[in-house]
Amino acid sequence: PIDPNFEETREQVDEHEGHAVWGPVDKPEERGIHGTHVAVDFDICLADGACIEDCPVDVFEWVDTPGHPESELKADPAHEDQCIDCMICVDVCPVDAIDVDAG
Ligand code: SF4
Ligand code: F3S
Ligand code: ZN
Repeated sequence: PIDPNFEETREQVDEHEGHAVWGPVDKPEERGIHGTHVAVDFDICLADGACIEDCPVDVFEWVDTPGHPESELKADPAHEDQCIDCMICVDVCPVDAIDVDAG
């Protein structure tokens, strides 16, 4: 599962569509964690799609990750600022790739 303490254990190495990317990143195999309030571990996500279907405010958008061993699509928290902390995405992801900091 995603490390809920990633803000302490990782470093922000990049930015993507206005949100942080937490390393390590070594493309194409290692993609890091995208987002901070709504964080998706791209190295765990296998493109199940439940988060995209079920988020009531459409926080996620598909992005291409060609060459990644788990899946070549990831759920990107493109609109994490719109999150209403319902925790549905955290509950439905089958591989626990998402962390929402509702604190
Ligand atoms: Fe969407 Fe709810 Fe997940 Fe926030 S916690 S990203 S509103 S499903
Ligand atoms: Fe990926 Fe989990 Fe969503 S596998 S597409 S983060 S439900
Ligand atoms: Zn992203």
